[in-house]
Amino acid sequence: MLNGNGICLLSCKGGLHFANLILPYLNNYLKKNNLEEIDLTKTEEIQFKNTEIKTNILESIRGKDVYILQDVTNTSFGYSVNDNVMALKTLVNAARISDAKRINVVIPTYPYSRQDKSVGREGITAKLFAKEMEYLGADTIITLDIHNLAIAGFFNNCVFENLYGFKNLIKHIKKNISLEKLVVSAPDIGGLKRAEKYASELKLNLVSIYKERSYVKLDCINKMFVIGDVKDKDVLLVDDMVDTGGTLCNAIKILKEKGAKQIYFATSLPFFNGPCVDRLNDLYKNNYLTKVIGTNAVYHSEEFVKNTDWFKQVDVSEYFAKVICYIHLGKSISSLLQETGW
Ligand code: R5P
Repeated sequence: MLNGNGICLLSCKGGLHFANLILPYLNNYLKKNNLEEIDLTKTEEIQFKNTEIKTNILESIRGKDVYILQDVTNTSFGYSVNDNVMALKTLVNAARISDAKRINVVIPTYPYSRQDKSVGREGITAKLFAKEMEYLGADTIITLDIHNLAIAGFFNNCVFENLYGFKNLIKHIKKNISLEKLVVSAPDIGGLKRAEKYASELKLNLVSIYKERSYVKLDCINKMFVIGDVKDKDVLLVDDMVDTGGTLCNAIKILKEKGAKQIYFATSLPFFNGPCVDRLNDLYKNNYLTKVIGTNAVYHSEEFVKNTDWFKQVDVSEYFAKVICYIHLGKSISSLLQETGW
């Protein structure tokens, strides 16, 4: 009989919530494959008064297939996103010099993913993160709905696995939303391919919204136009992420102006930063927004999830667990990605 000793699951503080969700599912998959169950490998992560971070792995991982969990968006314990990124680097480094056989970095959200090209004199920080991970010795990166698939090209030696929240989100939509009057849309042209995928899976019509952005001011949109008919229709908006909610709110407002009824929004990465929650609260109170359906790839407190009527959280931890188990066993994961790429 094989055993689970070859696999280790380690987590930074930020990733602990998600790691604890993954663990029981992972153990189920390990058991199904005649492997022993595992516990989280013990680590200690401390932040000094000057904000520097140190990580210590408290058990041997020599020769192991190591999976390191970090949710850089989990700032609930006082870290910033950048602290979480640093904590991840310290753990990957510690795992490398502790002689792990393979280091798989599991990041439900890839940090700096929107800084994937240079305009003017900007740095390409999505690439910087990729290079740092490779330099530190990561062998595999596993993430969800990367903002731009071209980011995979920033890695030379690392295997890059992009998972898709689509399957889990679509399952929830089919079960809970009436498709009778529903049309699908993306809040901007960049998201149309994704929206097309939803429309084709749900066998619905597609409408599009054209967003004219100002590149002079930060986070500023000049004009929006709807291409297609939404009068008396319900609309399912889809996007990879919602950050400050600016794009989404503008899309909802224009759809309402054009006569849309119920508006739903599905996203893999519901960041809800800055004014986002207040904006969505207002839209919900004024019957502009019916529901936001987002995955738990982004951390939100149990209290927030329970008390936010417009938010439905869809679990992707089992999906990650299955992928981790398959990768550990050297099994193909393409069946877990099928029908989800765009
Ligand atoms: C844009 O390319 C993305 O897909 C999102 O539409 C955008 O980043 C969302 O940002 P915000 O919610 O701040 O408008």
